[in-house]
Amino acid sequence: MTQRVLTGITTTGTPHLGNYVGAIRPAIAASRTPDVESFLFLADYHALIKCDDPSRIERSRQQLAATWLAAGLDPERVTFYRQSDIPEIPELTWLLTCVTAKGQMNRAHAYKASVDVNVAAGEDADAGINMGLYCYPILMAADILMFNAHQVPVGRDQIQHIEMARDVAQRFNHLYGGGREFFVLPEAAIEPDMALLPGLDGRKMSKSYDNVIPLFEGGAKALKEAIARIVTDSKLPGEPKEPEGAHLVTLFDAFATPEQAAAFRTELRAGLAWGEAKQRLFELIDGQLAPMRARYETLMAQPAELEAILLAGAA
Ligand code: TRP
Repeated sequence: MTQRVLTGITTTGTPHLGNYVGAIRPAIAASRTPDVESFLFLADYHALIKCDDPSRIERSRQQLAATWLAAGLDPERVTFYRQSDIPEIPELTWLLTCVTAKGQMNRAHAYKASVDVNVAAGEDADAGINMGLYCYPILMAADILMFNAHQVPVGRDQIQHIEMARDVAQRFNHLYGGGREFFVLPEAAIEPDMALLPGLDGRKMSKSYDNVIPLFEGGAKALKEAIARIVTDSKLPGEPKEPEGAHLVTLFDAFATPEQAAAFRTELRAGLAWGEAKQRLFELIDGQLAPMRARYETLMAQPAELEAILLAGAA
């Protein structure tokens, strides 16, 4: 049976290496497998929840569209669109909102994290929290159920949202499905090894930790500068280094063949300097990114072409 694979990316930031490894690369690889129908979209309504600056959302949308296309997304094979170009998504969101238990939304991680911050600061539990954040999982459920996706490639932090989408689908099917599976029950598809790429400081790579390695913006220079700032232990050149658990090695692994990964470990154990190791990491990543970066720069210079591709996807 043809599997439908769908994923979205929130348009608030500039794509970084973590987005590439965790979402973009696997989604594009999956889109090339036979018997797979791919839907990839820019979640610009989700962006409104975290960002009230329209120009930033617009810039991010353009950067993301150019990034996915440059990374190899084939708009002939993949339905590639902006969430906000499909009015049926917010329409379905409302229908799903009416079958979603409030108590379930109370348990959503993103909402609970904001409440915890407020409580710790001695504020009202819901201070500064809008209904967009609260209902975020329902909009996401609509994104997925709208197209009856079977598989949803996401980072581990999104698993709960997929489970909620399943629950909502199940409830809707039970109430209105008339005994059949009206909505497909979606499953999260997690990349086993590298779903959480570490950032410069070893924590999950995330804009909110300010520890990201840029993907294309800023060119090879920005990539090199970011890699230079990866935190390592203070072992000197010549001293043996333990590769396991070093996040520089985890970053290397995300781009390396098993042979390259093994050779890098051997060199580190033999005393390779961290500075040299960073140079190896840069060369490995830049070797893969440079041809894509050239396409990215061309697309960024031609917004009308991007717009035409997105509108065709929406249609
Ligand atoms: N919430 C997802 C994230 O922050 C983005 C997203 C929105 C999404 N709608 C989706 C992902 C539907 C998969 C399917 O990463």
